[in-house]
Parts: sequence; C-alpha cells; structure tokens
Amino acid sequence: MFKFFKKCIMKTNHKKNEKMKKQEIIMIAAIQNDRGIGYQGDLIHSIKNDMKHFVEQTTNHTVIMGRKNWESIPEKYRPFKNRENIIISRDNNYHAPGAIIVPTIEEAIKQSTKQKIYIIGGGQIYTLGLPYADSLDITHIDAHAPADIFFPKFKDLFTLDQKSEKIHDTETNLDYEFQIWKRIQKTYLTR
Ligand SMILES: NC(=O)c1ccc[n+]([C@@H]2O[C@H](COP(=O)([O-])OP(=O)(O)OC[C@H]3O[C@@H](n4cnc5c(N)ncnc54)[C@H](OP(=O)(O)O)[C@@H]3O)[C@@H](O)[C@H]2O)c1
Repeated sequence: MFKFFKKCIMKTNHKKNEKMKKQEIIMIAAIQNDRGIGYQGDLIHSIKNDMKHFVEQTTNHTVIMGRKNWESIPEKYRPFKNRENIIISRDNNYHAPGAIIVPTIEEAIKQSTKQKIYIIGGGQIYTLGLPYADSLDITHIDAHAPADIFFPKFKDLFTLDQKSEKIHDTETNLDYEFQIWKRIQKTYLTR
C-alpha cells in the first residue's frame, strides 16, 4: 500500500517538475525576401522539404495558431497529429475538433502542457507572439512573389545563430535556406 502511494507521489512530482521547467517558445515560418508569408488566405510557396522540416520540428510539441491559419489548413491535416493544437480566436463559441480555443496568446502559452511551444502563424499571431519568442526557425525563400500577409520585423531583436547551405528546390525552382535566429535583447515579456 505504502509503495503504491509513494509511486503516486513520485508521479505527481514528476508532472509538477515538467510544468515548472521553463517553456521554450519558437516561432516557425517560411518567409520570402520581403517577409511575405501569405497571399489570399494561403501560403505563397509550397516546398515539400520545408513541410517535412515543419513536421519534424513541431511533432510532439504544442502548436499555437490563429483562427485564419487553422482554417487555411486542409481538413485532412488538422488537427496536426501528435501535437497539442491551440487556436487563438476572439469568438468563444468557435469550434474546432481536436484543438483548444483560447482568447489570447498569453492563455495559449499558459494552456500548453508541453515544454516546447511552436507559434505557427499566421501574420497576426506571429506579431502577438514575437515579444514571447526565444528563437525563430525561419525558412528563408529567395523569392518576390505577391504577398498580402507579412512576418513582423525581427532583425533588431534576434541574431542569426545557424543557417544551412542554400538549397535548390527543383520542383518549384526556388532557392531557400533554413535559419535559426536567437533573441539578443532581453525585451521579451515575462511569463
Ligand atoms: N509562410 C508561413 O510560414 C505561414 C504560416 C502560417 C500561416 N501563413 C499564412 O498566413 C495567413 C493567415 O494569417 P492572418 O494574419 O491572416 O491570420 P492568423 O494570424 O492566422 O489569424 C487571425 C485570427 O486570429 C485571431 N486573433 C488575432 N489577434 C487576436 C487577438 N489579439 N486576440 C484574440 N484573437 C486574435 C482572430 O480570430 P477570430 O477572427 O476568430 O477572432 C483573427 O481573425 C494565410 O495566408 C496563411 O497561409 C503562412
């Protein structure tokens, strides 16, 4: 009996420690030269290797997104599997099977049970998330296609920490590289 209780207490403490660990917040986005990320409610570019990168990075973690981004994801892919899906919307009656709906970015971060949180857009949610982000996982695409949604300016707050070599995508004929930017200024909001 005692052993059973001891096991329960140890389990509870483990859960508490997980929650107490500082959460890491990463914004992941594919951006072109003018920081364009979207056009007419959809992505501007679709590079298969970048999609693979997105899945590899975000699997087993929390993904936070805006209601418009959620609606732009083909139904067969949502909710993103093996990830905790959190949607930000002002509509508290909004219904999205398999996802948690919250009214603010702060609540989204608070509701995450995972230690690693990926903010996955779109434009409005990247702007809300920027003050909280520890790092940015950017796929930089060398292109100038029409765009109506943009990633926020970030180069004063983050420094380029790692980058891949330039990669050529034969399917789209686009050049791109993977970049990790780390925050340089302690300007982010405490959480
Ligand atoms: N290239 C990339 O990596 C990438 C990644 C993701 C998305 N995208 C693109 O980005 C575009 C969508 O971005 P978007 O800026 O139009 O929309 P969004 O950021 O995905 O979602 C906007 C919605 O979020 C909610 N919201 C925004 N601010 C809020 C606040 N302060 N409090 C509570 N809720 C708030 C509102 O939902 P309600 O209206 O329900 O209240 C708002 O309509 C699409 O074109 C998509 O393809 C690109």
